[in-house]
Amino acid sequence: MKHAKHLMPLFVPLLLSACAEATVLEARAVGARDAATRGGAVPLLEVLSPDASIRVEVSLGAEAPTYRIDRLGRDVILPSKLGFVFKEGGALAPALKIASSSRAAFDETWTQPWGEKKDIRNHYHELRIDFEETTARPRRMTVTFRVFDDGVGFRYEIPAQERIGAFEIMDELTEFALAGNYAAWWIPAFQPDRFEYLYQRSRVEDLGIVHTPLTMEAGDDLALSIHEAALYDWASMTLENRGKYRLKAVLVPWSDGVLVRGTAPHRSPWRTIQIAEDPGALITSYLILNLNEPNALGDVSWVRPSKYVGIWWAMHLGISTWSSGPKHGATTAHTKRYIDFAARHGIPRVLVEGWNIGWDTDWTAKEDNFKFSTPYPDFDIEEIARYGAERGVRLIGHHETGGDVSNYERQMNTAFEFCNRYGIDAVKTGYVRWGQGISRVDETGAVRKEWHHGQYMVRHYQAVVEEAARHKVGINVHEPIKDTGIRRTWPNMMSREGARGMEYNAWGGNGGNPPEHETILPFTRLLSGPMDFTPGIFGLLFGDIRPANRVNTTLAKQLALYVVIYSPLQMAADLPGNYDNNLAAFKFIEDVPVDWQDTKVLHAKIGDYITIVRQDRNSDEWYLGSITDESGRTLEAPLDFLAPGVKYVAEIYRDAEGTDWEENPLAIEITRRIAESSDALKLRLAPGGGQAIRFRPAAAEERGDISPLDK
Ligand code: NOJ
Ligand code: CA
Repeated sequence: MKHAKHLMPLFVPLLLSACAEATVLEARAVGARDAATRGGAVPLLEVLSPDASIRVEVSLGAEAPTYRIDRLGRDVILPSKLGFVFKEGGALAPALKIASSSRAAFDETWTQPWGEKKDIRNHYHELRIDFEETTARPRRMTVTFRVFDDGVGFRYEIPAQERIGAFEIMDELTEFALAGNYAAWWIPAFQPDRFEYLYQRSRVEDLGIVHTPLTMEAGDDLALSIHEAALYDWASMTLENRGKYRLKAVLVPWSDGVLVRGTAPHRSPWRTIQIAEDPGALITSYLILNLNEPNALGDVSWVRPSKYVGIWWAMHLGISTWSSGPKHGATTAHTKRYIDFAARHGIPRVLVEGWNIGWDTDWTAKEDNFKFSTPYPDFDIEEIARYGAERGVRLIGHHETGGDVSNYERQMNTAFEFCNRYGIDAVKTGYVRWGQGISRVDETGAVRKEWHHGQYMVRHYQAVVEEAARHKVGINVHEPIKDTGIRRTWPNMMSREGARGMEYNAWGGNGGNPPEHETILPFTRLLSGPMDFTPGIFGLLFGDIRPANRVNTTLAKQLALYVVIYSPLQMAADLPGNYDNNLAAFKFIEDVPVDWQDTKVLHAKIGDYITIVRQDRNSDEWYLGSITDESGRTLEAPLDFLAPGVKYVAEIYRDAEGTDWEENPLAIEITRRIAESSDALKLRLAPGGGQAIRFRPAAAEERGDISPLDK
């Protein structure tokens, strides 16, 4: 099913001339093939990426319309079904014809108000196809493909029409028929701990039912990841292995089995397939953001990225409690100590968990439990807010819902008003409940149990983002719906958890996260968006406090995570006392920014190692983070990202000789060297280790004083 290159020029020159704005091109046939017989596997329409490397073809198959994708002539996705099954009226897939189609091209560079890269190019070719049933009482659906140089997005629209009004979808037929038995990194779907599983690697033929992003490699020169963009008012998509490397979309249902309810016109999220030559290029693909709509909030200067500390790790270690009593963490005095520490180190925010009424019961299972505007009596919010304001430190609010969403929705407005009263401009939310446990009161007053990732919760998470935006509050969601790039449209949707974070090292079974965990996240979970991983633990060993647990990295690797894992809200997660014991290493956390001009990936091997460099958005500095799995290694990093001709001081935080995550994790060597863009740096990483570097332009007097890099 490959097509000769000579078919391409038919419409490519026209498309390439388009720029700045969407240009709607007239629907045009692809050669004579538009007239091809319907019902066979003959391609009817095709669309190419702007650089012509990626091609999508759409056909009318016998059972359903299909699409296929190749890159540089190599099959990536074989013919794969499109369509739906409705509760009323059945499948909208067989016996379809193409009623009309249209094309557009788009090329624009937009600016992120905050992010991992400031200016992002959104460049694609679009093909919209209106399908119509060939029956006497035809129904219609539209599928839009956008083809970028780094992949493909497509979505369904159910247009307003006589025969579809209010509808219930019982199946989405979308398939991804992979062209080979690719290597895949995956976490299981429909499990009690949501997205919080260790990634496993296997061949596609061994997959069960998995979450997205699902990242795969087809040999050494093709990496791809399937996910979705702009998930609104739809159920989230999981992928089920249906044999022969064919993955099928399985949407997370409502408690009554319906997948999606809506009223036409209605549209699905984009189904996305990022495609690149190497996995590092998946990380610098902005396809998911590009498929989201532009900023809907206008001026968002009130959304402020920052680092934060918090009354948090002490609870996870069991030193303090969320609940009231002698070990209560969220006391006025304790919070003031954190505010003092933050002020001393230029950290603008302090998170406090366990500040509000509701923690003294089994809060993960109880209805009508949490109060979101009622502090415990030993948490004097007036005094704390005053004390913080005097020192330039704000609180991060904490709304743990315990998965009782109806209870939270009833209080949401007053909860955010409470935040406004006390200068709280960012809130961490939480939805701890196991399995199909989210609790909602339905129209009849009955309590129903929903999945975290079905349409009901997609609507809820979005309602919170919009309510918070009305109050100018940024959001950091734990136990979230997966990220699908909606921060582009709602820039107050700042960060989320949605994977196994640092907390698993405090109490996780089997010793927490293994050393390779953080070398997989950038290629999987992080493709969807920022993660509140909460790095920066210096007290890697917990001694008698938690003898069976520890953090399975070296100290230098903890620093490198601030660059490797992107989040606009980045926690310095450890106890302040552990930082006070090593202020030399803490200096990197003080210095490292959270808002970036640019991001580049220097080394990328999924599950083995990764090196990322990022340019500060507000200075001429660059930062490098490099991490490895349980194997030590030396990587060579060319410094050609630095401005040519400029001498930089490289402040290097690396594993000292003999460091090893298991036996000797704390040894760190901090050195300074003069470096410039023509240099290459040998990054020596210990087993389970890492390296963090700040590059700052050297002052004149430093240039002679500090020795150059060992070459
Ligand atoms: C789980 C969150 O991931 C964690 O950060 C938080 O401390 C607890 N829930 C309590 O809300
Ligand atoms: Ca590995």
